[in-house]
Amino acid sequence: MGNVTVIGAQWGDEGKGKVIDWLADRADVVVRFQGGNNAGHTIVVGNNEYKFSLLPSGVVQGKLSIIGNGVVVDPWSLLDEIERVRGQGLTITPEILAVADNACLVLPLHRDLDAAREARAGAGRIGTTGRGIGPAYEDKVGRRAIRFCDLGDEAALESKISRLLAHHEPLRRGLDLPEVTPDALLAMLRQVAPKVAPYVRPAWRELDRAIRDNRQVLFEGAQAVMLDVDHGTYPFVTSSNTVAGQAAAGAGVGPSAAGFVLGIVKAYTTRVGEGPFPAELKDATGEKLGERGREFGTVTGRKRRCGWFDAVLVRQSVAIAGIDGIVLTKLDVLDGFETLKICVGYRLRGETIDYLPASLADQAAVEPVWEEIEGWSGQTHRARSWKDLPAAAVKYVRRIEELIGAQIAFVTTGPERADIIMMRDPFRG
Ligand code: IMP
Repeated sequence: MGNVTVIGAQWGDEGKGKVIDWLADRADVVVRFQGGNNAGHTIVVGNNEYKFSLLPSGVVQGKLSIIGNGVVVDPWSLLDEIERVRGQGLTITPEILAVADNACLVLPLHRDLDAAREARAGAGRIGTTGRGIGPAYEDKVGRRAIRFCDLGDEAALESKISRLLAHHEPLRRGLDLPEVTPDALLAMLRQVAPKVAPYVRPAWRELDRAIRDNRQVLFEGAQAVMLDVDHGTYPFVTSSNTVAGQAAAGAGVGPSAAGFVLGIVKAYTTRVGEGPFPAELKDATGEKLGERGREFGTVTGRKRRCGWFDAVLVRQSVAIAGIDGIVLTKLDVLDGFETLKICVGYRLRGETIDYLPASLADQAAVEPVWEEIEGWSGQTHRARSWKDLPAAAVKYVRRIEELIGAQIAFVTTGPERADIIMMRDPFRG
């Protein structure tokens, strides 16, 4: 059996948490490789609902769970999350949780900068989650970030703090933010360092060992291909690469370790935050999708924008991210719609095109070309076998497969772990 990499193939919130939880049951190791606490996964197990932002979902089943070097980690948020899920009965120990020693920290000054920039951007705001993710990645590539391995080395930490603040102070002044003194930042870091230290180690070594021992690794992506900093709807994107290729760089393994790439796709489309959304429905149908799908953000509680399934966009994600198979989620939200629509192309300045162009102006100008498809009166809700699906629902799923050029590995039909129709085991390729 091989490894599996799970990524979102739209704009996030496709229901990755549930799929990852399901797969984590069969994996030995679960690894996060990008993003930070901007992510939000909800996992329902029996009467318990767990909300994760930073912790890999493997902690629910006590699997070795790694926060890889590609993740930017707010240590205070991580500790809060550990406490919260402990309060729900989960056991989180250094035996099952590892934080890569070369992962970069998200600091309060990153959150300040994120909020101040968004507040001043007016109509140009990105609609970030406000968690400081963009500024933290900027410091990472600017080579001035504080990393976990720095926390134990007081002398090095002081000089790193000076370097970091030399960059931030002029920015803060320009944005009317209060000064952060080196002493104040050092005191904060000294206070948090011993609390995170038990989890910090060279995570790549554990992964290397696991891979050499043929143990199954699940790479857990956050956000989605259309929010990728290179391939998404730039600049309305997150600040990391969200494609499957990042699993290797963000965990410290070779590219072949990523294994089977499983793209998670909602049976319709949603987006939080600003930015182009060709298949968006700003009408009663969009409202209905949002209500039925309970489309509110896990992290920020924001209402998600909703639209019909956009096959052009997903086909593009399949190609860019090398998606081998799809999980179609929330099919049951479409129960009871008389007619459904699928976006099968875009009209741009009088021409029909079959891809989303890179330019923001073009992305904002494209208009969907719709294909109408018959809805179903029966239920897919809680269906657990292919033969339980109404014929029109099967037709909808098959049409999506045809349009996006990828096979569906499984379909999810409700929030519970068992509300899944499995057609192909991704661990078996
Ligand atoms: P940031 O990642 O907080 O900088 O936000 C940048 C963009 O990515 C915004 O449009 C956010 O709404 C979006 N975003 C970030 N994380 C997620 C997520 O986990 N789900 C959906 N959208 C997200």
